[in-house]
Amino acid sequence: MPRIAVIAGDGIGVEVIGGALQVLRRVNERFGTKLEFVEFDWGAEKYLREGITLPDGALQMLRSEFAAILLGAMGDPRVPDNRHAADILFGIRFGLDLYANVRPVRLLHEKLCPLKNARLEDIRFTIFRENTEGSYAGIGGSFKKGTPDEVSVQEEIHTYKGVHRIIEYAFEYARERSLTSVCMSDKSNVMRYAGELWLRTFDDIKARYPGIKPSHLYIDALALLMIRQPQQFQVIVTNNMFGDIVTDIGAALQGGLGMAASGNINPNVTSMFEPVHGSAPPLAGKNIANPMGAILTSAMMLEHLGLAEAARAVEAAVVGCINEDKTTSDIGGRLGTREVAAAVTGKL
Ligand code: NAD
Ligand code: IPM
Ligand code: MN
Repeated sequence: MPRIAVIAGDGIGVEVIGGALQVLRRVNERFGTKLEFVEFDWGAEKYLREGITLPDGALQMLRSEFAAILLGAMGDPRVPDNRHAADILFGIRFGLDLYANVRPVRLLHEKLCPLKNARLEDIRFTIFRENTEGSYAGIGGSFKKGTPDEVSVQEEIHTYKGVHRIIEYAFEYARERSLTSVCMSDKSNVMRYAGELWLRTFDDIKARYPGIKPSHLYIDALALLMIRQPQQFQVIVTNNMFGDIVTDIGAALQGGLGMAASGNINPNVTSMFEPVHGSAPPLAGKNIANPMGAILTSAMMLEHLGLAEAARAVEAAVVGCINEDKTTSDIGGRLGTREVAAAVTGKL
């Protein structure tokens, strides 16, 4: 019985995870998958009430008792520094060493793409975002704060281990799926020290994959080409911050943040699946958030758990609903969050 830790979190996280769970329960009935869901109330509400963010022992529990984690979103205007979000989200990403943030960019219907004349096959690639270091390391400090002489330092770290394993993960992903190109993107023309490490490591690893065409782009050029020529990409690998930014561009290509799925993966540890979007406070509690990103994220989780047939069925059900305009307003439909989740569940 694979146990799934469910952390709905804040804002629309609660609503979209509610939808995803409805779909996953239907998957259990139809495929006999026997997934067991254990819900955790970690998030802003608990933090404001009890002062607890990520409870003591949580990481050990997730590691030893769960097959996967499904997370909605963290972020609440009542916690202006989002301290709980950092503790929970980064606590799990960093604490479980989930180094590969895998974010597929896949257009499910032409009508969802903001680009003119885009075809489905034009927008079908996967971004591998380094997920444990870079500018997310939180290293730095302030000096003479609040004075005209204020100085702030925000450092990045890039380790050989961290860079090596994410680039290798991207190449392995390409090899396993017979994909023929991997693009590494950085800003090595300016960030010379980190850039040199990324470029050298990329060169070392690409030599081991003669069947895969390697390419390199500066991140600004990548941002442009994702819009102008998205069809050239199959696999993109980049650092934590650049990956954060370009995966929002990737989300736009698929129809918006409501459509984008992601996994935080370490092949040897309990991995975490979460939609790319956040808690969208203005949308929260209104039954208008698009649950498809969270549902497609659940499909990624099923695939990761070895339940590929169920994953394909969930994706097909989402596509079926899009074809019939059984969607929320962000992608042109008239339904609410609950109604879309029910429609996807119905197709299963
Ligand atoms: P956001 O993704 O929450 O929302 C930005 C906008 O995108 C929304 O206002 C809405 O117009 C649209 N949108 C996002 N998700 C949608 C959905 N499912 N359906 C329809 N429209 C959707 O980003 P933000 O406003 O920059 O951040 C809000 C909070 O969420 C912040 O606290 C931020 O730190 C946090 N955040 C958390 C995560 C996470 O937990 N993984 C990810 C991103 C942002
Ligand atoms: C994401 C989010 C997070 C990130 C925020 C909420 C810290 O934007 O998962 O894309 O930057 O990683
Ligand atoms: Mn982001």
